[in-house]
Amino acid sequence: MKVTSLSKTVALLVLLLATLTTLALGQGNRGGSGGTRLGFYRSTCPRVESIVQSAVRSAVRANPTIAPGLLRMFFHDCFTGGRSWQVRLGRRDGLVSQASDTANLPAFNDPMSVQISKFADKGLNTQDLVTLVGGHTIGTSACALFSYRLYNFNNTNGPDPEINPTFLPQLRALCPNGGDALRRVALDTGSANSFGNSFYENLRNGRGVIESDAKLWSDRRTRRFVQRYLGGGRQTGSRFNAEFGRAMVKMGNIEVKTGTQGEIRRVCTVTN
Ligand code: HEM
Repeated sequence: MKVTSLSKTVALLVLLLATLTTLALGQGNRGGSGGTRLGFYRSTCPRVESIVQSAVRSAVRANPTIAPGLLRMFFHDCFTGGRSWQVRLGRRDGLVSQASDTANLPAFNDPMSVQISKFADKGLNTQDLVTLVGGHTIGTSACALFSYRLYNFNNTNGPDPEINPTFLPQLRALCPNGGDALRRVALDTGSANSFGNSFYENLRNGRGVIESDAKLWSDRRTRRFVQRYLGGGRQTGSRFNAEFGRAMVKMGNIEVKTGTQGEIRRVCTVTN
């Protein structure tokens, strides 16, 4: 079910950014040792959530690709260093920023067993994996990351057999052999600007774009969780939304730094 339009994506991102942001307001050592919590800025910056909300809303309005970019950044941030869910604030930035830490991140060509174990290393189970990858309901991928599936997959001189034969010509038209590797293609065909469970319908129909997404359906360990989110009813859509929210909160609390741990960066991309 298509639950949302861009406005809901914005609402989602607002919550995300609220989690992400530590806003260099000097609040960082008030988190105690108990991790993130609701109302972290209640007394020191009571309007923080609405301020962040309107900033994100206007940024996304000006440039809609910010929404998927932020969502993905949240995932990467958690692995390396409203509506139906409440946002806990108080996370601080790490003291280290190294490219090598990205080895923890699941890759699009990792076997499913590796993806499952990379999530397990962070305390996330297989259901969390399937639910969180539902983040691909918005956003795009560069041709470079999946065109190997279209022409000479595993040296077979043919496409990845998991791609639906009616979908293949569409993907080939978007990413011609030897064409622009940077061209971007929706991860959730037909619904890239809208947050909802259609992504899973596409997986069932052989319309997963990147290999790791397609495998969520072909691997029996993950397929049963994909099945939870299939079906056009309102209930299925709200189940996905609710479970996605819970899984995001769980992911947001991975190895979280609070209190006097870490720091609040002045410039996000480098340590102070
Ligand atoms: C098995 C785990 C995952 C793998 C292998 C994976 C892989 C990828 C790849 C290859 C891309 C395309 C990147 C590009 O071309 O720039 C992508 C995009 C994206 N991913 Fe994931 N991802 C995973 C999990 C997640 C999770 C857990 C989230 C968020 C909850 C997420 C959110 C996104 C978003 C929103 C985009 C689109 C970015 C944009 O349009 O700028 N991904 N992912």
